[in-house]
Amino acid sequence: MYDRFNRNINYLRISVTDRCNLRCTYCMPEEGIQLLRHEDILSFDEITNFTKVAVENGVTKVRITGGEPLVRKGITTLVRMISEIKGIRDLSMTTNGVLLKQFADELRAAGLQRVNISLDTIDPEKFKTITLTGNIIDVFEGINAAKNAGLIPVKINCVIKESKEEEEAKAVTRFCKDNNLEIRYIRQMDLVNGHFSMVDGGTGGDCSLCNRLRLTANGKLKPCLFNNIEFDIRELGFEKAIKLAVELKPECGSKNETGAFYNIGG
Ligand code: 5AD
Ligand code: SF4
Repeated sequence: MYDRFNRNINYLRISVTDRCNLRCTYCMPEEGIQLLRHEDILSFDEITNFTKVAVENGVTKVRITGGEPLVRKGITTLVRMISEIKGIRDLSMTTNGVLLKQFADELRAAGLQRVNISLDTIDPEKFKTITLTGNIIDVFEGINAAKNAGLIPVKINCVIKESKEEEEAKAVTRFCKDNNLEIRYIRQMDLVNGHFSMVDGGTGGDCSLCNRLRLTANGKLKPCLFNNIEFDIRELGFEKAIKLAVELKPECGSKNETGAFYNIGG
């Protein structure tokens, strides 16, 4: 599918839950969050059927995100349902890694190809400060489990303030070199005020190259992370929602006052 700016839209990111087992300070607002009602969350069948239609329309690359995707009950079953769709060439997941030790093998068996794991520091105390509820040992074990399960290449998402030369980021860089992990640096973004920039080491954040559509856990299809527009796949039907999202995908991001990382998936 080509949009008005001749971008080939072939990448679908699916947020399967707005819930998370961590509380990263840059992701979750301090005042707490309004969680989606259970009955509004898309079922596995809805997600799979939507993805089929997206693939029929040219999507070849799918990423499963959250919140934290591994807290969605039955996630392995969903991964299997998606991986069985013919035409997906790249099936990946973004996770905080905390539960990967438990899930890596079954995810691989279900057809997941690879994972991106968030890690902004390798210092246990700082990790606690950033995530409030996390234990970094779980993430280290999750990274190893992912490698051993063959969910490769394992990529690390490292959120930075300004530069990858910050002390925390430099330590993560070293850790990745030592452990044979790819790293991408993501500058901390601000959806409401429209602050975003290119992901160093990845393809995100460059509007002219953006090939993405995002599906939220309650069925809104968003053509741009930094824009309020969204199309309800239940109201419009899958085909029409996809068509509208591609047709109306903005040339460049601006602001998003209605969504947040934990419910769009970044
Ligand atoms: N800016 C940049 N990245 C963010 N993430 C969450 N909130 C933000 C933000 N404000 C990232 C996480 C993870 C991915 C799911 O989104 O660090 O890597
Ligand atoms: Fe959870 Fe990821 Fe948000 Fe951290 S950044 S609170 S791990 S969704």
